[in-house]
Parts: sequence; C-alpha cells; structure tokens
Amino acid sequence: MDRIRIVGGNRLNGTIPISGAKNAALPLMIAALLTEETLILDNVPRLADVAQLQRILGNHGVDIMSAGKRSGDHEYQGQTLHISAANIIDTTAPYELVSRMRASFWVIAPLLARMREARVSLPGGCAIGTRPVDLLIMALEKLGARIAIDGGYVIASAPGGLTGAEVEFPKVTVSGTHVALMAATLAKGTTIITNAACEPEIADVADCLNKMGARISGAGTPRILIEGVGGLGGARHTVLPDRIETGTYAMAVAMTGGEVLLRGARPELLQAALDVLTEAGAVITPNNEGIRVARNGAGINPVTVSTAPFPGFPTDLQAQFMALMTRAKGASHITETIFENRFMHVQELARFGARIHLDGETATIDGIETLRGAPVMATDLRASVSLVIAGLAAEGETIVNRVYHLDRGFEHLEKKLSSCGAFIERISER
Ligand code: UD1
Repeated sequence: MDRIRIVGGNRLNGTIPISGAKNAALPLMIAALLTEETLILDNVPRLADVAQLQRILGNHGVDIMSAGKRSGDHEYQGQTLHISAANIIDTTAPYELVSRMRASFWVIAPLLARMREARVSLPGGCAIGTRPVDLLIMALEKLGARIAIDGGYVIASAPGGLTGAEVEFPKVTVSGTHVALMAATLAKGTTIITNAACEPEIADVADCLNKMGARISGAGTPRILIEGVGGLGGARHTVLPDRIETGTYAMAVAMTGGEVLLRGARPELLQAALDVLTEAGAVITPNNEGIRVARNGAGINPVTVSTAPFPGFPTDLQAQFMALMTRAKGASHITETIFENRFMHVQELARFGARIHLDGETATIDGIETLRGAPVMATDLRASVSLVIAGLAAEGETIVNRVYHLDRGFEHLEKKLSSCGAFIERISER
C-alpha cells in the first residue's frame, strides 16, 4: 500500500490550481442517469471516487468516454466526461460497488425517477459516524415510491412514476437534498423541498439539471421548487471549483507560512472558513485569478469554531483546521455538530505531540510551538489530509499510511504541494 513521506519545515510559496469539486462531480455524474442523451461534464477531477462511480454507472449500462488532454491544457486540467445512459440495462447497484463509497447510493433517485425501480445496496464510505439513509428514503416515499429493505438492499419502486410533493427535512442533509432534487425533476407535478441543504454543490447540480431541461428554482436556498417535466435531455456543464480543497491548501499555507495563489478558487464558496483563517492570522486576498493566502512572520492565533451546514464552517475542513490550531498561541475549541465520531484525527495528531482534549462534541486544543514528525494513519479522507498539514509543519519525518483515502479526494496532492516547496513524496509499494 502506498505511503506518503513528508519532511516538514518548508514554507509554501507559489501557485496551486484548484480542481473541480468532488462533491459536485459525483452527483452530476449520477444525474446523467436521468436522460437518454449525453451529458458532458468538464473539469471533473481525476480521483479514486470518480473512477469508482464510473464503475458503478458502467454496471447500470452507462457508457462513459473520458476525453484525453488537448494542446493548451495545463498539467492539472480536469477531465471531460461524456456520459451516456441511453440504455440502462440493470437497475441494481450491488453491495461490492456501493459499499466503497457512500454517494453511490444516490443512484437510487434517478433510477427510480426514470426506470421506476431501483435496488441499491445500503452504503459504506468514510467511517465518520452512523450516516444513515432514513431521510433519503423518507423523501422518496413522499414522492410516492414504495420502499422495502431486504438483505441489505433498499428496493424502491414507483410503477406509475413519482409524484410531486412537499418534502420537509427535519435536519439539513446534503445527500437527502440531492436525492429529492434529482427524483423530483421527473415527477408529475410540483415538489417543494424545505429545510434543503444550501451547499454550493446542490446549486451546481440544479444548474446542470436546468440545462438538461429541468425546472428548478431556489437551489442554494433552504426552499427549492421543482416543477416536474416529462423527460430530460443532454447538456454540457463545468464542475465548480472544490471549496474543500481550497480551504485545505489555505490551511496548509496558514500552517507553514509563505504565500500561495489558489488559482481558480472562488471566495464566496468558503467565506466562513476564510473569515476563520483571517482571525487565525492568515492574510486572505481574493483577486481575479483566485485567492491569495499568506502568513508571513505573525504567529497563529487560537480561534473557536463550530461546524455548521453551509454557509457555516464546513465539517469537511474541521480536521484540517484542528491541525492548524495545534500550533496556535493559546487554547482553541472546535465543536463538531454535523457528524458524531468525526474526531479520529485527534489521536493521530497527538502522535505529533499535539495537546488535544475531547469532551463530547468539542475538542480543546492547547497550541504548542513545535510538532514532531511521526508515522500516522487515518480512516477518513479529510482526517488524512489533516495529518499531511501537520506533517508539513512538523520537525523531521512524517509517514502517512493508508494513502488511498487521500486519493479519494485530493487530485495530485503531492505534486501540488511540492511545486510550492514542500518536501513530500509518495512511496509506492506493491
Ligand atoms: C455530504 C458530503 C460530505 C460532507 C457532508 C456534510 C458528498 C459526497 N459528501 O455528505 O463530504 O461532510 O455532506 O456537509 O457530498 N443524516 C441522517 N439521515 C439521512 C441522511 C443524513 O440522519 O438519511 C445525517 C447524517 O448522519 C449527518 C447529517 O445528517 O449527521 C448530515 O449528513 P449529509 O448532509 O446527508 O451528508 P452526506 O450527504 O452524506
């Protein structure tokens, strides 16, 4: 299994191009199941999760063509996928495929909407809490689906098609909102989703669905209105930039010091995180190329943060921010409100010498001046990259094990960081 070796202590200086957002690319690819025509997606990141979803869609009979590089493309250019679900030959998403990635469960919505049936294994994915699907099932039932659970599979059917309805989520859920939105596009009549997730990736998917002929308004707000249509067509859409990747590299720069341009990043996608970084002592300057992040000279201030649904501070940046706070000049507090059990990085950060005390949903971090490199490993994507951030600033050598988590969500991680002066390399083992 591959490992990453980091020798810490270098400041980061240079330019990091930001990739397309994983959390938009996945539902956009899934949305291609809604139409017989070809959906073309540009700026799709080359990630293990994207490749895994290609396999899952392939199993349903979807043809996916990945266009090669064109002259003038830069090294990190995302790929263009031509996705054609002209013939769906199988409405089952099997355990072996779905258990590896939670978002693949979302295929249930377009399959049900278009094929009127779906049989999808209950999901797997990152080990961060129980992550149930009860609200996704509730939404589909509201739209008229009949649902049974048998042998680890959710079996959904709507022989007469889905019907528009009011879907009110008792808590904000990104997955629930994606599923309700996709299913409602082909339902008869109007659907109103209330307490919808406002994450930018939801609005990006809705934009693409509208290009395909859907009639959606209000995506990106807590109330989304969808007027069902008889069918959807093809379209071409560019995946929006990854705000979590942006925030991760911004935190890396705040951690090591230096100055980096995050090219293509959009500040409005992560304003809460940028505000927190400013409080922590980073200088954030959006410009027409992206976002410039710098920390020169000044130390890291302790900041107290709670995760919250968008536009709040994202749970997907919580681990990275904790890594930063391990070197703050004083005590900070981080409260995780979205996922229980999303603190697996705490014990690994402790291996660098970090002082973190956990009390329920809140971690108290007593900043120290110097971290020391260590062998570490993590069991989820964002936790893994928090260890990379700690390693970049730690004295000596850090080995991050279980790199496959990083490959699920960070395109060209080592290249992007080493081009800015970090000593980071992948050690491949067969
Ligand atoms: C998505 C993101 C993930 C991010 C998360 C929160 C993707 C591919 N993943 O995950 O990176 O960390 O949003 O921003 O976009 N819940 C239920 N019942 C349900 C569904 C969810 O109780 O049926 C709970 C979850 O356990 C969690 C909370 O709702 O506590 C939020 O989950 P949700 O927003 O659905 O996260 P995901 O869509 O899985």
